[in-house]
Amino acid sequence: MRGLLDKIKKMVVYDADTEFYAKVFPESVEKRDLLRLRTMTHADLHTVLEIERKNYQFPWEEDIFTDCFKAGYSCWVCEFQGKVLGYSLLSIAVGEAHILNISVDPAEQKQGVGRKMLEHLIEVARGRAETVFLEVRPTNTAAIALYEDVGFNEIGIRKGYYPAENGREDALMLALQLF
Ligand SMILES: CC(C)(COP(=O)(O)OP(=O)(O)OC[C@H]1O[C@@H](n2cnc3c(N)ncnc32)[C@H](O)[C@@H]1OP(=O)(O)O)[C@@H](O)C(=O)NCCC(=O)NCCS
Repeated sequence: MRGLLDKIKKMVVYDADTEFYAKVFPESVEKRDLLRLRTMTHADLHTVLEIERKNYQFPWEEDIFTDCFKAGYSCWVCEFQGKVLGYSLLSIAVGEAHILNISVDPAEQKQGVGRKMLEHLIEVARGRAETVFLEVRPTNTAAIALYEDVGFNEIGIRKGYYPAENGREDALMLALQLF
């Protein structure tokens, strides 16, 4: 029984008390308190790809997401009342965690979804990795503000990392030390 409970906890992260209060006293609970994280499945890919294409000029195709599943990466969606608002993916290997993608539906941005997912990925990495790394386009001021706000620091530049309209664009490399 305990094993089953732990398995469920690994797949879904939400606060049952908050959901109870939302039903009984709806005005006492904010939307960001009701965001629920759960592992991404194949069934989510349609919505995930829709958001991916809205957010990026050079979006990932389905095969990249399925490769992430196959590789056993930590793949999550964040939903509100059953609607997927965003998704995030993390790989962990030899003490290093890497945020591969974090993306929120443009219509749902600036409501705490990105922060909720980022903080969750950091918790997933804690205890399993010493450092969390990520790359970001230098022009992506919203993402950089979020990363710096949770404690990431710039550690370098990856030359020509991203595809761009006129060739390639450099990436900023950011890192968060966990211990
Ligand atoms: C980056 C992204 C994931 C942030 O998600 P979000 O849900 O909008 O972010 P949140 O509402 O949780 O904001 C958290 C913090 O990020 C910063 N932030 C978010 N959007 C911002 C903006 N447009 N301008 C400046 N800062 C911003 C703020 O510090 C904010 O904290 P605050 O709410 O206390 O002000 C989202 O903008 C996104 O999906 N962008 C497109 C995909 C992308 O570029 N992903 C990152 C690839 S490296």
